[in-house]
Amino acid sequence: MDIVDLWTCQENQLIFINGWIHRIIKDNKSIFLMVRDGQEKARNAIQVVLNKHLISNSVINISKLRKETCVEITGHIRHNTIAQGGLEILCTRIKIIGEAEPLEKIEDKNRHLILREDRLTMVLKLQHFVKKYVREFFDGNRFYEVTPPTITQQSPEGNDDIFKFDYFEERVSLTQSSQLYLETMLPAMKRVYSILPSYRAEKNYTRRHLCEFTHIEAEMAFIDFNQLIIFIEKFICFVTTKLMENEESKNYILKLNPEFKPFTEPFVRMKYSDAIKFLNKNEIHYKNNNTYKLFTYGMDIEDKYERKILDIVKKPVFITHFPISMKSFYADGNSKETLSVDLLLPNVGEVLSGSMRIWNKDELIKRMEQQNMNVKYYQMYIDQRKYGSCPHGGFGIGLERLLLSITNLDSIKDCCPYPRSHDQHLV
Ligand code: 4AD
Repeated sequence: MDIVDLWTCQENQLIFINGWIHRIIKDNKSIFLMVRDGQEKARNAIQVVLNKHLISNSVINISKLRKETCVEITGHIRHNTIAQGGLEILCTRIKIIGEAEPLEKIEDKNRHLILREDRLTMVLKLQHFVKKYVREFFDGNRFYEVTPPTITQQSPEGNDDIFKFDYFEERVSLTQSSQLYLETMLPAMKRVYSILPSYRAEKNYTRRHLCEFTHIEAEMAFIDFNQLIIFIEKFICFVTTKLMENEESKNYILKLNPEFKPFTEPFVRMKYSDAIKFLNKNEIHYKNNNTYKLFTYGMDIEDKYERKILDIVKKPVFITHFPISMKSFYADGNSKETLSVDLLLPNVGEVLSGSMRIWNKDELIKRMEQQNMNVKYYQMYIDQRKYGSCPHGGFGIGLERLLLSITNLDSIKDCCPYPRSHDQHLV
């Protein structure tokens, strides 16, 4: 059945909707139902008015109209400036499709019910829009979307945080990143991307970590490091500009974060070694057991310090050229520094990480051996360097982290339907 856009209807037009009662208000003359039909753009629900006449003549049991009752409404459109969104439906017929048990308060563990509430519904709709514009951007830049497997034997981001499980007779893991598979597809398609879950078994209590997240990853053949950074900048600006050009997504974003503005070029570029100097120069010291010390080369810049950098420069920041010890085995560079980049965005810190990839076979094997990796599981990755290798690079960005930056909600757990984290009840 076609979905009617109520906001284009004429005064008095007869319409018909299905939906769920979001709120219910009664006075001594009428009943006002706020009905969610799931398709409201920027409004949470449409007001449906049941007048005295309808209430007294209705064949249905009015007391069964409760929060979450599923109803079928027939009625006439009335423009009313007092109603939410300036529109309401004067109901002429109401039918109960699905009764709802009394529901006073939705508890936190009932995620399946919470996601009907305004805030989470807006976030879920925003996930849709982010993916839409991510796809539009990649499509416009001649990328192919691919679907590598998420069951794997590799651990591109280190061995500490992988979920292992039995796969017939073998011990395998859930992917931490699709990057390695994407790289193997370059000789076939030159530019590829994927939007798939990645998994990290880290027991991390920060507001930006999940055990399962939506990883947007891209790989490109024949680019250099500078082009990679420019590409990432264009990508972030495109997606956030499009989100703010679309009335519906703009409305959700501004309801959640009234301060939000799309990101604009140029972002600040800072080498990791300069970021260390920047922190010390601005008297941002590393706090450990109530003592403060200076940052030194090789130290991890935790998220709270990343946010301090953002507070000062007031623009998205690229931190580049991390030391070899801080990046995964595949990152290209010289004997000291890698051609790697982290993008820091407001409210979060790191949302994206990318690099040029080692494309020489012997160099790659040497790096893997230095890191005590089991080369046997990476044969396809090594083979790519054996049969027509080429310079290439790419990046990965967590959809939920990007949304956390855009919406400035409390935690990444507010940016997905069913968060997976070690302190969260599985629903
Ligand atoms: O920095 P990460 O671990 O890099 C990679 O996985 C690369 N292989 C990506 C690539 O180059 N194709 O992760 C990349 C991004 C992070 O910046 C972050 O946005 C997100 O993935 N991410 C997480 N999001 C939520 N919870 C976690 N535990 C995350 N770990 C990474």
